[in-house]
Amino acid sequence: MTATGLTTIGFIGSGNIGSQLARLAVAHGYRVVMSNSRGPETLSDLVAELGPQASAGTAAEAAAAGDLVVVTVPLKNYQQVPVEPLAGKIVIDTNNYYWERDGRIPALEEGKTTVSEMLQEHLPTSRVVKAFNNIMAADITTDGKPADDADRRALPIAGDQVEAKAVVATLLDEFGFEAFDTGSLADSWRFERDQPAYVVRMTAADLPGKLAAATRP
Ligand SMILES: NC(=O)c1ccc[n+]([C@@H]2O[C@H](COP(=O)([O-])OP(=O)(O)OC[C@H]3O[C@@H](n4cnc5c(N)ncnc54)[C@H](OP(=O)(O)O)[C@@H]3O)[C@@H](O)[C@H]2O)c1
Repeated sequence: MTATGLTTIGFIGSGNIGSQLARLAVAHGYRVVMSNSRGPETLSDLVAELGPQASAGTAAEAAAAGDLVVVTVPLKNYQQVPVEPLAGKIVIDTNNYYWERDGRIPALEEGKTTVSEMLQEHLPTSRVVKAFNNIMAADITTDGKPADDADRRALPIAGDQVEAKAVVATLLDEFGFEAFDTGSLADSWRFERDQPAYVVRMTAADLPGKLAAATRP
């Protein structure tokens, strides 16, 4: 039995972050359904590495299979994420805005929205929780520590539904990280790219100061 009580995690995106989170998920007893943009046949090596708890499908199949689904694609492609099979589901958004990769998005640069509010607008009935955007992919499988370790790494999360955030916090805890609830998706700019809290190793005690030091255009 997993700590969240969930069985299957779907992945839309199986790159640096998706593959690393899938490794942790399998290690903690979840089934995973992986997807990418090129098709399930291109994921055979990853699925073989992950073992019998893993399979690959289309993005729609991964979305439908997941009790919880991770969206971890380049932000420029977020509107390609299937909407209907994610209805009502908790969706973890790991995405960050890199204008060099994603093209200029004026609403983000002008501070009118956040990356995760954009995904939430695209998935109106899903329950989007921003998480795992604030850790380098390589650290996901190495930085986890038990809950009683005083130096445990904390990762900020944000979302508009308390219950969805509680499930994601349980998942983070199971994976070896302290979830630090920063508030709503609208507030999640405080740990987006270039902010003091972005992709630095912090404990829960470090986070409030880093979040408070964030500035917006
Ligand atoms: N890398 C990091 O350390 C890190 C840390 C925190 C957050 N992030 C953020 O997390 C997101 C993912 O980063 P990453 O480094 O994992 O990227 P990545 O290695 O480039 O992987 C992206 C994955 O998304 C898939 N994809 C692209 N468009 C898709 C679509 N329309 N439908 C389904 N899958 C699609 C790609 O599939 P194909 O290969 O088939 O195109 C690939 O599997 C980005 O927003 C990034 O900024 C990254």
